[in-house]
Amino acid sequence: MKVLILGGGGREHALAWKLRQSPRITKLYCAPGNGGIGDDAERVPADLKSLDAIVAVANRLQPDLTVVGPELPLTMGVVDEFNGRGWPIFGPTKAAAQLEASKAFAKEFLQRHHIPTAHYVICNSIEEVHAALGKLHAPVVVKADGLAAGKGVVIAKSKEEAASVAAEMLTGRMVGEAGSRVILEECLQGDELSFLVLSDGERVAPLVAAQDHKRVGDGDSGPNTGGMGAYSTRDIVDDKMRDWLIHHIARPVVAGMKAEGIEYKGILYCGLMMTARGPMVLEFNCRFGDPETQPILMRLESDLLEAIEASIEGRVSDGDFKWSNDASVCVVMASGGYPGTFEAGKRISGLDEAAKVEGVKVFHAGTSKRDGEYYTSGGRVLGVTARAASLETAVSKAYEACGKISFEGARYRKDIAARALKRN
Ligand code: AMP
Ligand code: GLY
Repeated sequence: MKVLILGGGGREHALAWKLRQSPRITKLYCAPGNGGIGDDAERVPADLKSLDAIVAVANRLQPDLTVVGPELPLTMGVVDEFNGRGWPIFGPTKAAAQLEASKAFAKEFLQRHHIPTAHYVICNSIEEVHAALGKLHAPVVVKADGLAAGKGVVIAKSKEEAASVAAEMLTGRMVGEAGSRVILEECLQGDELSFLVLSDGERVAPLVAAQDHKRVGDGDSGPNTGGMGAYSTRDIVDDKMRDWLIHHIARPVVAGMKAEGIEYKGILYCGLMMTARGPMVLEFNCRFGDPETQPILMRLESDLLEAIEASIEGRVSDGDFKWSNDASVCVVMASGGYPGTFEAGKRISGLDEAAKVEGVKVFHAGTSKRDGEYYTSGGRVLGVTARAASLETAVSKAYEACGKISFEGARYRKDIAARALKRN
């Protein structure tokens, strides 16, 4: 069977690495991939911003299945496009992907279906922002409605700051079109949790939960990023909490979408804040998380292909995934300056030594390969991922491997999973 993966980040490298272990897959392509994905899949050039370009690639390769990594092709309707041609593809349709593409849609949906989330006001103008600020307490979370690659959320310490951030968004200066509507939201306190489920439009099967580290600096300092590291353990949520999250969040979302005439098939990523008032939804993503996918798939012992097929064919069940009890952790090595501007093209050394550390797999994200050497080509460069019987060992193995890798300007957080280790 021929499988095509769309995307080129660390998440897609993890998907390629895992899918390659599936005995039924005879050929794996990744479009456009990255420097390191070439070891697991054949790279195919593609511009994922163009539906026509994606269709042309699939038409040429004729894959038996296409797996979509990033949100953009999903929100542009790649699944609708493929479904119309009878080509098997994994992911939600454009209508279903609105849960990620529009935070206003997601918030109103949550409210309609009584699913717990922070209090909010949707604003279309600065006048509406000023009126809404009268009803909220500082700090205030200001969110751009549309897709903004992790740059559309600001936690404003004061109402003045909230008003000025909202103005920057509404005028298009901050995140372009994505900010033409903003959401003001109460600021929630607690631990964040990435809770992903596989859905077939009706049933859901949970993946093991993970925690992302969104801020660029140690101790959760500095601006938000796409994610600087993540970990997953068997007890990050206990069975009782997992069942609660399925019954009160994941299932009601899929059932609510169905009741509104929208089938949600694919991965539903629930970004949660575990508050004193209980778990609350911060956001949805309509795809696997990056970097959560790296530690999550390191713990998956069953065949990912079988689970994906169960979603497409409408037969998802709780037994679709078999998980290891081991802990796993991913530390993202990023370019100096990320999430702001950074220079690319720095030679990466030490990858072979890092790969020799027990239990470690280095997933590539922003890398390119030239004459057998790897170079940086993006903000998040590598996801150094380790699996071990204890979280402590997994963390120490991941950092041991990071210590062997170098490139000019490399930066990574030194405290991934540190709070969990302190609790144990
Ligand atoms: P989002 O894209 O909505 O997940 O927001 C990105 C990040 O901003 C989240 O992962 C949280 O760290 C933070 N965030 C979003 N909404 C809230 C909120 N209501 N209260 C506190 N932090 C938030
Ligand atoms: N790690 C968060 C995301 O994938 O959006």
